[in-house]
This record gives sequence, C-alpha cells and structure tokens, in this order.
Amino acid sequence: MIISKITCIGAGYVGGPTMSVVAQQNPDIQITIVDVNAARIAAWNGEDLDQLPIYEPGLKEVVAEARGRNLFFSTDVDKAIDEADMIFISVNTPTKTYGKGKGQAADLKFIELCARQIASVAKTDKIVVEKSTLPVRTAEALKSILDNTGNGVNFHILSNPEFLAEGTAIQDLQNPDRVLIGGENPEAIEALVKVYEAWIPRERIITTNLWSSELSKLVANAFLAQRVSSINSISELCEVTGADVNEVAHAIGMDSRIGSKFLKASVGFGGSCFQKDILNLVYIARSYNLHAVADYWEQVILMNDHQKQRFAEKIIQTLYNTVNGKQITFLGWAFKKDTNDTRESAAIYVADYLLNEEASIVVYDPKVSAEQVYKDLDSLGTRSPEDNRRLVTVVNNPYAACRETHAIAVLTEWDEFKGYDWQKIKEDMKRPSFVFDGRKILDRQSLEALGFKYYAIGE
Ligand code: NAD
Ligand code: UGA
Repeated sequence: MIISKITCIGAGYVGGPTMSVVAQQNPDIQITIVDVNAARIAAWNGEDLDQLPIYEPGLKEVVAEARGRNLFFSTDVDKAIDEADMIFISVNTPTKTYGKGKGQAADLKFIELCARQIASVAKTDKIVVEKSTLPVRTAEALKSILDNTGNGVNFHILSNPEFLAEGTAIQDLQNPDRVLIGGENPEAIEALVKVYEAWIPRERIITTNLWSSELSKLVANAFLAQRVSSINSISELCEVTGADVNEVAHAIGMDSRIGSKFLKASVGFGGSCFQKDILNLVYIARSYNLHAVADYWEQVILMNDHQKQRFAEKIIQTLYNTVNGKQITFLGWAFKKDTNDTRESAAIYVADYLLNEEASIVVYDPKVSAEQVYKDLDSLGTRSPEDNRRLVTVVNNPYAACRETHAIAVLTEWDEFKGYDWQKIKEDMKRPSFVFDGRKILDRQSLEALGFKYYAIGE
C-alpha cells in the first residue's frame, strides 16, 4: 500500500503539531488537517505565524516550511475523508461529564461521530488510525461502526498513540523514544511504518497487537503521573523531617533502575491527559471487577489533589490564617512552561481554594490570556462569573502583578521568572514579603538575602 494522501481529523494540540511534522518529513505525501472549529482552522491558516492556535517552541518554523506545499488546514471534513488513503483520528476524548461513568470514563462521542462520518463518506478503502488516547478495545467498536454503516469498502484500523509532551512537542515528534503501532493487518501496519521511517530509525518503531497498543498509552501516562505523585508524597515528608526533596530525588534517581527523569516535586501535575487517562484506567479496571487494581491507580490522583490543596493551605496558614481581602500574585497559570495550555492546571485549583477564602488574586502568565483564566475559573462553577471577575485580575506585566501584594505564588516553571529583578519586586511588596514556590525554580539564598520569606515544596 502506498500512501499519497493523509487526512487528520482534529487540529488540536496533538493533530496540529504531529501532522505538521509528518508533512515536513514526508514532502511527497499530501496532508490535510481538518476540524469543525472554523476559528481554529482560520488561525492555522493565518499569515502571522506568531498567532497559531497553539504555542509550541519550533512549531511555527515547521508550519512555515510545509504549509501550502504539502500541508493544508481545512474545515471541509467530507472532502478530506473522501480523498485520503489514510485517516488519523485526533479528536478530544475528555472525561465524561454525564451518565454512566460520569467523572471517570472517556467520552467517546467525538470518536464515534468521526467513525460514522468516515463510513458514510468513504467510497474507497481506507486505513483509519487511532491517534487519540482511547480505552482499550475501542478499535472493536470503531470497526463495528465502520463496517456496519459504510458503503461496502474495506477499513483497516490501526492504533498509533501519541507520546509527545506539550512544550517539547516538536522535539519529541522529531526525535521520539519510540513510535507505537498496533494493528491486525500487516500491510496496513507496514504502510504506517513507512510514513514514520521517513525520519525515525526502524528499530524505534514498535508494532504490537491493537489492544496492547491502546492499553500501553494509558499505562505510559499512568506510570509517568505515578512518579510525580510519588515524589510529591515524599515532598510532604521532607518538609516535616528536614530532608530536601531535590536531594532525595537526586540520590534515588542516580540508581539507573529508577532513573532521574520525572522526579521533580511540584504543586501537582496538570494537563489535559494525566488525570483523564488514569481515571479512564481506573474505570476500565472497575468494569472488569479488578477493584484492587483500580484502587491502586486512583491513589495517584488522590495524592495529586492533596498536593494542590496542601499548597493552598500552606499559603493561608502562613498568612496568619486569613487571606480575606489580601492580594496574592500568581506567577504562571499554564499547566507547565512553554505552552499556552491551561487544561487541568494546578493553578486553577489553588486559585479556587484561595478564592473560597475571599483572597484577591492577580495573575500573570506570559502566554495565557485573561479570557482563558476566567474561562477556567467559570468552568468550575464554584462561584458566579461576576465574583470571579471581582476577585481575580489578570495583568500582562509581572512587576505590576507583584506591586503591593502580600504574597507571590509560583505556579508554573516559566524560565523568565528566574531572571526578574527580585529586589525591585521586594521594594514594591507588602511586608513581610512572602514567596511560595510551587515549582522550586527560585533561589532560596538570594531571595532570603533580599528579605523575602521563602517557602518551597519539599524543603
Ligand atoms: P484538542 O481538544 O486540542 O483537539 C481536538 C480537536 O478535535 C478540537 O479542535 C475539536 O474541534 C476537534 N474535533 C472534535 N470532534 C471533531 C469532529 N467530529 N470533526 C472534526 N473535528 C473534531 O485535543 P488534543 O489535546 O489535541 O488531544 C486529542 C487526543 O490526543 C486526546 O485523545 C488526547 O488524550 C490525546 N493526546 C493528547 C496529548 C496532549 O499533549 N495534548 C498528547 C498525547 C495524546
Ligand atoms: C504527558 C506525557 O509526558 C506525554 O508523554 C503524553 O503524550 C501526554 O501527557 C498526553 O498523553 O497528553 P504533558 O501532559 O503534555 O505530557 O506534559 P508533562 O511534561 O508530562 O507534564 C505533565 C504535568 O506533570 C505538568 O503539570 C508538569 O509540570 C508535571 N510534572 C512533570 C511534575 O510536576 N514533575 C515532573 O517531574 C514532571
């Protein structure tokens, strides 16, 4: 099978960067990324590459190279399906907010809509690739929909989960640890292997059965998140024993069986996937009556919730047990540095906790808009949109954000925070001047020398 045209449904954080790199590396394949969100497609097609809908280091250069050559963005989903030999489904699979499995299971309505649309439009054989993260055995349901509602053409389903992390997406895509392809039909698998072989050594492309591939994605995220919760649990123990969590992480990480990556204690992990995918894993385990397995993984989420709450409580307790009417400045709102994504960001939950105590919060994030901050808080439904706007101010200057403030809380590890003129910040702040470093990026010694009261997770 020779692939000359690929369509990707979903122009989001995965579909956009992933297919841009596939297009960059395969100039002979025509790639069309489609989405029902017309504003998002317009932004992908916009002239100003600094206004792409997603901020990722290195992304605009890749788009500049491939767009208009063999990379296209469109809202015409039917046409793109009709023309493609291979269709990637990269739509969102959020946690269900209604019905059976509410709060845990993955909502597969967008996936099913894609399958039905592909089935009704396709007039030639297609390879359908699951790029979204899906519960194990989703390919079975997809196959049933495609075969029973289609026009008698053949569909081969592959699972090809994505392992990129936001903020380093382009680097991860260009030089991945591995690519995983699960499937049943050897020719379909080989066709997708060829696409990746354009830039990835064959030995890093793993092929498995469909179910191993689907499950491996959930398990990879569960293991990564588990490391963060494990070190965060130890951070609390460090705070009461005089141990330093960075030193502990360094000491255990030097053991090559443990490894040093992903052991950074923090205010808690965020992002659209860790929590969603673990909840999904927990739901799947429970649905097979594997309650010990479900309880084991659920603990990773409970620990993460505890860490966010603990950070907020530390602020309240340190500010003499009341933050009512006090200004607290948030440096950072994104769930990690180098992204404008705020989904499930720890900042949202820490803010919510402090707002319940009637704190007044000023937010500065280099890449997140005021509109997004309010949207995130409104979506919690804890208080009215008017109250969120009364209590929270978003500014685009960090020094203005810190002026006359009682305390600064670092919620995202943006590099620029380290280089600020902390002396100037100190001069303009209320006294005592508190800094709560939820990311452990600032230097205790120099801040204390300037007269700050400095608290960092795990010290
Ligand atoms: P996203 O919300 O940024 O993008 C999904 C896009 O799909 C949206 O723009 C939406 O409008 C579009 N869409 C939904 N239904 C559609 C339809 N029927 N037709 C056309 N377009 C449709 O989501 P994302 O972050 O890109 O995640 C996509 C999937 O990839 C999820 O399953 C996620 O778990 C997985 N994933 C995400 C990451 C990440 O870092 N964000 C990494 C690996 C895997
Ligand atoms: C994560 C995985 O790393 C990707 O492999 C996966 O493809 C992706 O989820 C997904 O399926 O969506 P991402 O969420 O983009 O990627 O970013 P990470 O770098 O994993 O960070 C997740 C969260 O954990 C962030 O809030 C980060 O600050 C936090 N974290 C990470 C820590 O607190 N400590 C660490 O040591 C590492």
